[in-house]
Amino acid sequence: LCAPWSQPVRIRQTAGVRVHDLRTPCLIVDAATLDHNLTAMAAALPGRRLRPHVKAHKCTALARRQAALGHRGFTCATVREMEGLAAAGLGDDLLLANEVVDPERLATAAALEARGARVTVAVDSDATIEAAAAAGIREVLIDVDVGLPRCGCAPGEAGRLADRARKLGLEVRGVMGYEGLATIVPDPDERRPVVEEAMSRLAAAHEAVGGDVVSAGSTVTYAMNDTATEVQAGSYALMDTTFAAFEDLPFRLALSLWTTVISVNPKGYAVCDGGLKSLGMDHGNPTIEGRRVLVVSDEHITFSWGGDHGPAPAVGDRVRVLPAHVDPTVAYHERLWVVDGEEVVDCWPVDLRGW
Ligand SMILES: Cc1ncc(COP(=O)(O)O)c(C=O)c1O
Repeated sequence: LCAPWSQPVRIRQTAGVRVHDLRTPCLIVDAATLDHNLTAMAAALPGRRLRPHVKAHKCTALARRQAALGHRGFTCATVREMEGLAAAGLGDDLLLANEVVDPERLATAAALEARGARVTVAVDSDATIEAAAAAGIREVLIDVDVGLPRCGCAPGEAGRLADRARKLGLEVRGVMGYEGLATIVPDPDERRPVVEEAMSRLAAAHEAVGGDVVSAGSTVTYAMNDTATEVQAGSYALMDTTFAAFEDLPFRLALSLWTTVISVNPKGYAVCDGGLKSLGMDHGNPTIEGRRVLVVSDEHITFSWGGDHGPAPAVGDRVRVLPAHVDPTVAYHERLWVVDGEEVVDCWPVDLRGW
């Protein structure tokens, strides 16, 4: 059913295929849960209020669903993501929310405009402004440091950088700032002041920069960010166990790694064929409902059985593993199998991988 890794991804016939027929390890997406997540977010942030971040799924077919719900602008982390979306006719308003200095990649992004795309690039320094202008980029956002130790200029620098960009002929659409520190605060009452503090820095920068775009926000802050004119949430579509633990969020786990038990040890543990090479592990171990995950290594997930951890599995049993971090997990895979209960209803290439 699945071609070897060396073969290019093709959409395959899924009629009559059951989830148990799939080769493991592979990613499966529960269609109804995905629909729930997409529609819950579209109801909260309709149309342009949401600029979905595609880095969380890297999948044009899923982006098409988001666009069909009214979100015609997308956030990208790589030029490759922008190229893929533009080629699929989803290039109405693409934001590269990341600093890029590679002249060829910037020129590739700029050239998407000739194919009907609108391209905006984040800049946070004289060097990134100059690189964007030299490559033929026309529109930028000033990326502001709102507290996360990553990209972004000091709020007090934003006005000067906007002036510099305008002098070089760039259109400055406004500002962006990602309040990533809020992603480690599960309690909404504690998370809200973290967002407010970050957004006060972005608002100050916006005062100095002007423009009508204030781009910020994420899955865990979408309902508490009143400063952003558009929210860059990504994980909400597929979700992972880290964000599912945030009790104020309405989004549910749509993604799992489908695995097969390959060994059962009488000492009370068993092994399935997922591992570090099929799961993003930077947010910790994945979850197997009713079991305890003991160790994850390259191609093995060892989990307990017996007592509170359920009866002994058999070699060949399938096991659903819930990833702790969606973005890197998806990036390890070539395709997402979309399932409705036991039935496989679609196969979506993860076609926006690479840089
Ligand atoms: C620039 C930027 N915006 C928004 C997000 C929010 O993404 P998510 O909704 O997946 O947490 C991220 C995540 O890392 C990001 O890097």
